[in-house]
Amino acid sequence: MIYFDNAATSFIKPKIVKNAVIEAINFYTANPGRSGHTLSQRVAEKIFDTREKVKDFFGAKHHSLIFTKNCTEALNLAILGTLKNGDHVIVSCYEHNSILRPLEHKKSEGVEVSVLWCDLKDFKSELEKNIRSNTKLVITTMVSNVTGDVCDVSNVAKICKKYNLLYLVDGAQASGHMCINLEKLGVDMFAFAGHKGLLATTGVGGLIVRDGVKLNPIMYGGTGTYSEDLSQPIDSVEGFESGTIATIPILSLSAGVDFLNKNFEKIIKIEQNLSKYLYKMLKKLNFLEIYSSEDSLNVVSFNIKNMDSIMVANVLNEDYNICVRAGLHCAPLIHKKLGTLERGAVRVSLDYNNTKEEIDYLIYALKNINRDV
Ligand code: ALA
Repeated sequence: MIYFDNAATSFIKPKIVKNAVIEAINFYTANPGRSGHTLSQRVAEKIFDTREKVKDFFGAKHHSLIFTKNCTEALNLAILGTLKNGDHVIVSCYEHNSILRPLEHKKSEGVEVSVLWCDLKDFKSELEKNIRSNTKLVITTMVSNVTGDVCDVSNVAKICKKYNLLYLVDGAQASGHMCINLEKLGVDMFAFAGHKGLLATTGVGGLIVRDGVKLNPIMYGGTGTYSEDLSQPIDSVEGFESGTIATIPILSLSAGVDFLNKNFEKIIKIEQNLSKYLYKMLKKLNFLEIYSSEDSLNVVSFNIKNMDSIMVANVLNEDYNICVRAGLHCAPLIHKKLGTLERGAVRVSLDYNNTKEEIDYLIYALKNINRDV
């Protein structure tokens, strides 16, 4: 089997991640931050260490990290937790439904939304023209899950700072695939998924929030703190993590980040080389329409001219044992811009475990599929 669906979730987890899961089940199953006994405290320390480790990994010096169950929940928290009736938001058309749907919901409550239809690389120059007196929040992805295009986050952040706007970055596809320093980038809120490039299990994501950003909770309940008070305490991250947190996924994230810290330079180099090779090889096939560029990071989307994307993905799966994702990738607006809203696109997404030989086999399969139609 060849796995080219790493943008959906990474498939091969490092051994230390697998071991961390077993270790967590064996030794860290008490409830952190609730009961005061030794076992509970031991787990709480592990969670604390992981929080610090993940923040360090993202260069988050003056920020808090709120653990969530996935990136979608982190994005919901950032959007629903900052916007109020009458605010204006500017987003790129590359965004995922985990951003577009909460925004659509807020529209019904009087929030105004502007979608910029420009290429992601031009977002920074278009942004300034679209700022209004009530603009509160700007949202972009860091790497598109459809095209692999990379956003110039640093310059978007500078514009946001100039106009005193909050900047939320969707880091789902970027995390673990490129060096990210939130302090240097000047990002206010950054959402990530644990189970993709960070190599953890499913069940954990996070929102990293710059100190000073005012956030309202979107979930209420027990925090293990100020229990006599019926109103939600929001003076610490626990106020945004009501309920028992996902200890085992969080400890797998800790191991995933350890693995990356050890191997990051090598991983980035392998992935960059593979991305270039994939693009170059696909580009040679004149029967393809390609929607990514040669600078795309780990993701290339395309169609075989006139063929439905789901059909191509099914043949790749059934006849060649190659896993890709076709369709709209939960990001309908970028497909509208690309003209692929009806038939979607075939997406190949890599990680460091892939090889040039696997890419060669994909090329062979695509040639056959094209010849047989
Ligand atoms: N958002 C994930 C993807 O692009 C699930 O496949």
